[in-house]
Amino acid sequence: MAAMEQKDVAILAIESSCDETAAAVVRNGREVLSNIISSQIDLHTLYGGVVPELASRKHIERINQVISGALEEAGMALQDMDAIAVTYGPGLVGALLVGVAEAKAIAYAARKPLVGVHHIEGHISANYIENKELEPPFLCLVVSGGHTHLVKVSGYGCYGILGRTRDDAAGEAFDKVARAIGLGYPGGPKIEQKAREGDPNAITFPKAKVADNPYDFSFSGVKSAVLNYINGCRMKQIDIAEADIAASFQKAVVDVLVEHAMMAIEEHKMKKFAIAGGVAANAALRCAMEKACRERGVEFYHPSPVYCTDNAAMIGTAAYYEYLAGKADGWDLNAVPNLKLGER
Ligand code: KG4
Ligand code: ZN
Repeated sequence: MAAMEQKDVAILAIESSCDETAAAVVRNGREVLSNIISSQIDLHTLYGGVVPELASRKHIERINQVISGALEEAGMALQDMDAIAVTYGPGLVGALLVGVAEAKAIAYAARKPLVGVHHIEGHISANYIENKELEPPFLCLVVSGGHTHLVKVSGYGCYGILGRTRDDAAGEAFDKVARAIGLGYPGGPKIEQKAREGDPNAITFPKAKVADNPYDFSFSGVKSAVLNYINGCRMKQIDIAEADIAASFQKAVVDVLVEHAMMAIEEHKMKKFAIAGGVAANAALRCAMEKACRERGVEFYHPSPVYCTDNAAMIGTAAYYEYLAGKADGWDLNAVPNLKLGER
């Protein structure tokens, strides 16, 4: 008897948790048919960071166009979709609400199932898009502007948090240090660029340890050390060596991330390791992780930069596995700004 052919599953995914309005069509979880991202960076640059109220307004202005663009680029209609997915937390409440309300309206009108997705689950799932062979179990370090989580992925939708930041997220530290050196917003890519001209061993910034959990992170110390160093230079009327500060700060953050991740890999005997989130776009971090994994015979995965920072394709991928597991949300789905990973 011929094997029964499996029907394709197409998902329209929407992401609006922070400052990118994004929509994507994803087929069978790992095939991205379209990935439209409308960034608000230009708008927020004026203020040196994301202004939540402005972000919500911009999402409202752009979301319909972004969704039409995603369907058009995929060459599909709303009726061809098997489900509508949306990020419902964590994130800025007003920004999340725009996506959630839109997804509910579309799903209701087109009579499609609605799948709410956790933003971090989306970031982790970004690794499935280009690494077709990657399957759980693996360890994932999620480093973004709002989150720093070391997560054991035991299965699709099965997450155990080993460590998290106690204060600033890794990306937040990049953004704050960039502002202090006068590089502007968003800081991550600007620090990375500046660091290329600097000496990572020029200045020793502290690497904080958290006493009661070796996997937890703390980045407020290194950020304060950079600010103190800059103030010290100003008081002594010494030129601020921006490139050396950027390179030394980046090294301090990368070293801590690598140390914690490798400790978890060894202790939990993991064979696969992935990074995710905006900071995973950082080439210095990627190189250091790649090297550390190679030395331990661990397979290393990372998404391309476009799938590291916020996008809707990663939400469509995460939603596919939720959909396969039979998870669907009701019309009462709401934005949950402080949603915890693994909560439903
Ligand atoms: O994942 P993402 O787009 O949004 C959140 O969910 O937070 O991450 C944005 C963060 C920002 O803090 C940004 O500065 C940082 O990721 N980032 C980087 C790089 N590109 C973006 N940090 C370091 N190096 C980069 N190349
Ligand atoms: Zn994100």
